[in-house]
Amino acid sequence: MTESNQLFCDRVQPQILGIHPYIPGKPVSELQRELGLTYISKLASNENPLGASPNVLTTVQTALTEIARYPDGSAFELKQSLSQFLGVKTEQIALGNGSNELLELVARVFAGAGDEIIYAQYAFAVYPISAQVVGATGVEVPAVDWGHDLTAMLAAITKKTKIIYIANPNNPTGTLLTRAEWEAFISQVPQEVVVVLDEAYIEYAKSFDTNNQYPDGCDYLSQYPNLLISRTFSKAYGLASLRVGYLLGCKEIIQYINQLRAPFNVNHYAQVAACSALDDQEFVEKSTVLNQQGMRQIKEALARLNVAYIPSVGNFICIDLGDQALEMNQKLLKEGVIVRPLANYGLTQFLRVSIGTQVENQHFIDALKAVLKDA
Ligand SMILES: Cc1ncc(COP(=O)(O)O)c(C=O)c1O
Repeated sequence: MTESNQLFCDRVQPQILGIHPYIPGKPVSELQRELGLTYISKLASNENPLGASPNVLTTVQTALTEIARYPDGSAFELKQSLSQFLGVKTEQIALGNGSNELLELVARVFAGAGDEIIYAQYAFAVYPISAQVVGATGVEVPAVDWGHDLTAMLAAITKKTKIIYIANPNNPTGTLLTRAEWEAFISQVPQEVVVVLDEAYIEYAKSFDTNNQYPDGCDYLSQYPNLLISRTFSKAYGLASLRVGYLLGCKEIIQYINQLRAPFNVNHYAQVAACSALDDQEFVEKSTVLNQQGMRQIKEALARLNVAYIPSVGNFICIDLGDQALEMNQKLLKEGVIVRPLANYGLTQFLRVSIGTQVENQHFIDALKAVLKDA
């Protein structure tokens, strides 16, 4: 930090100084600049390798004439579409600039200095950041088998607990909480504690769910007014760049979220694209089928290469490269493959690989084979 950057540090809210910002996947353009590579596969941010539905692209192009107008701040059409699709009332839906914004808004609505927010070890980085932003104490509960230990999370609840964040499946580890585990948990959480169930990867988890073990959060909304469900159009719907996510909950809490959010937090293109994406469930199906095939392709290759991994029900997989993981990451970059190192999660021995197209997956497999041979 230069001296001029330090002029204001004693004026900044103290909790802000300690925040470690979210580390996104390396952009393709950055690797191009750094290494001059032309053939790059980005498997670092759990994006949809098929892009978005062709209908979405047409819809957004047609809507370009509206660029000078403010968007509909209440997102009437999108809420109508979601309401019909999910079977919830429009007043039970809040929209966000990505679900990331909503996760943070929940913290701002319910927690402040002296309060506690519970999340699991290895859970999505935005949960601890949200706690820090509002000056609350983040309570990290040790994981079991790389996933949430719901019994320990229940035991961690105190009078100060305001929020519990849970991701199902978890990112970055891809672990699943079953219906039985979830039901045992939610039924024991005191009703004044808000539970945020983050279902960013629900479409993928459901596609792997052959024996109906995945608990769909919507089924529990009417029974638990303290339950909020967070979902996104960034993953299976392929709209990561447009930034649109939604929160479902009881009318009262959704109203508080709406009171706090910025008036035009979801832009017009995000709104029309999300409506169009929701209409094209065939595209979602195609995306999840491709993901299942890609997951199989990568798991079979890992088995051949004798590389251990954490079984995942998302569109990504954590592979165990021991103490060479960071070095392997650098070598993979030189081969034109961007994956995600997880040292900031305390998972130093792992790299997280997003499932891509068949060709991208093969690029990763060939690159991994080459760097392992070199090691
Ligand atoms: C578990 C989880 N929740 C939420 C998000 C945020 O997604 P977005 O802000 O794009 O909706 C992500 C993104 O990676 C995620 O992995």
